[in-house]
Amino acid sequence: MRTTARLLLRPFRDDDLPAWAELNADPEVMRYLGDKSLSRAESDEIAAAVNRQYVAEGIGFLAIERRTDGAFLGAGGLTREPWHPDDLEIGWRLARVHWGHGYATEAAASWLAYAFTDLDLPRVLASTDTPNTKSVEVMKRIGMTFDHNAVLEADGETFDAVVYSITQEAWRGAVQDNV
Ligand SMILES: CC(C)(COP(=O)(O)OP(=O)(O)OC[C@H]1O[C@@H](n2cnc3c(N)ncnc32)[C@H](O)[C@@H]1OP(=O)(O)O)[C@@H](O)C(=O)NCCC(=O)NCCS
Repeated sequence: MRTTARLLLRPFRDDDLPAWAELNADPEVMRYLGDKSLSRAESDEIAAAVNRQYVAEGIGFLAIERRTDGAFLGAGGLTREPWHPDDLEIGWRLARVHWGHGYATEAAASWLAYAFTDLDLPRVLASTDTPNTKSVEVMKRIGMTFDHNAVLEADGETFDAVVYSITQEAWRGAVQDNV
């Protein structure tokens, strides 16, 4: 669990599940996530798996809650992806009504700090479908830079992706510059 200026980053609760399912069924949200709307059962299973991973490993794609009113905004955090077994990735997914407020960047910056301080990781990666410019902008805002292009595979389908990265050294330098 982490707190930022505007957000609470925490495991999923049962009362998040309807809003989580709604965003996972939104074709605009899912456009670069396999372009398939998820069923309520699939959405619930992701939340359950996130909470299991958080208990087991202290990482995961946790819920994002707005502190002023308790609204569930979406989810984000550190995950282990099959295409990068030696590194953690950072990711984000918000309900469409909550785009455009800097929430994804604020949550991601906090999880990055966790990765480089508590977990002492040497680097963190992020990847997305090449045309997903909104996601790439989040990567850039948290200090990540282009690493390489890749063809990745998810659920049996391949897609063109961009991979961004940031090292602990670069992150510490950037944090220092902002003091
Ligand atoms: C990717 C995604 C999370 C980006 O959302 P986003 O709202 O653009 O990103 P942020 O939450 O960081 O918000 C940044 C925007 O808020 C604006 N903003 C407003 N108030 C702000 C504030 N207080 N602080 C920072 N930014 C602020 C920024 O200017 C920026 O706007 P712009 O896009 O017009 O430049 C969102 O598009 C999404 O959920 N997409 C679907 C799922 C997905 O594809 N996830 C990635 C898979 S790899």
